[in-house]
Amino acid sequence: MAEPFRLVVASDIHYAGPAEKARQDYESRAVGNPVLRLALRWYRHYIWLRDPLSHTHMLDRFLGAAPDADLAVVNGDYTCDSAFVGVCDDAAAESARLCFAKLRQRFGDRLAITWGDHELGKFSLLGGAGGLRLASYERLRGEFGLEPLWSRELGPWVLLGVVSTLIALPVYLPEALPEERSRWEELRREHLAAITAACDRLQPDQRLLLFCHDPTALPFLAEEPAVQRVLPQLDTTVIGHLHTPLVLKQSRLLAGMPRITFLGNAVRRFSTALRRARLWKPFRVRLCPSLTGCQLLKDGGFLTAELDPAGRGAARWRFHPLPW
Ligand SMILES: [Fe+2]
Ligand SMILES: [Fe+2]
Repeated sequence: MAEPFRLVVASDIHYAGPAEKARQDYESRAVGNPVLRLALRWYRHYIWLRDPLSHTHMLDRFLGAAPDADLAVVNGDYTCDSAFVGVCDDAAAESARLCFAKLRQRFGDRLAITWGDHELGKFSLLGGAGGLRLASYERLRGEFGLEPLWSRELGPWVLLGVVSTLIALPVYLPEALPEERSRWEELRREHLAAITAACDRLQPDQRLLLFCHDPTALPFLAEEPAVQRVLPQLDTTVIGHLHTPLVLKQSRLLAGMPRITFLGNAVRRFSTALRRARLWKPFRVRLCPSLTGCQLLKDGGFLTAELDPAGRGAARWRFHPLPW
């Protein structure tokens, strides 16, 4: 019997190179209101991640623990985005460069890189600093040589990686500079056209695995006729961005909640995503947590999958916890 294809998936590495590491307390410094600053510190300390700049060693831990594979996929967010403008910030670009170098050293060209929201920039959690920057898009394509839509084939399995920020642009656009908005909309149209073309190329006997960093994009993808057509061939959509299964569980519980527009942009973005979380269902979502997980549960790790070489049976997924 033929051997299965083997896949390794990691997400939300959030590497901090030397220049980002030097920006201690970058997040709360972006919050002017002292009450909000205190709330953010509490949330960071007990729930999310006490010191986001101190988990860089988790990449080495992953690279040491990951088995050999036919393909390794990393599913977005490679830096700490400590200037909130993505990789056009030189310090964040340094983190991304170091992170990609380590990944390439381990996996060579058997590596597919999905774009995360932090590569392109986004508002700080409560401060509203930073946002989407075209310069980050250009640097990802130019200096880093990354294609927005990547595609690989393993026998009958077709793997596609998409850019969630472009697909969910109606949610992210208020964070872009006004003079850059029309160009972002153009990039979104180009990306959706490329996704349509990739779906149209899919043969009836092929199986599909989708890689999409932020699940906020899924309800928008569901509006595309070409995507609707291939949903019966879709085995799994691997998402990242939520970092811990705790958030995925909450998302499912809170699906349908009203959109909150009066508590700042991060809450607006988050509540918009949750309101539409019911529409994630046809995508057969599987969360790849961050390597670190959250402070409260320390539940990070990575995924592996075995893919049937004849394309019968479902992908067999396994979660591998990583100790802190
Ligand atoms: Fe992340
Ligand atoms: Fe993210």
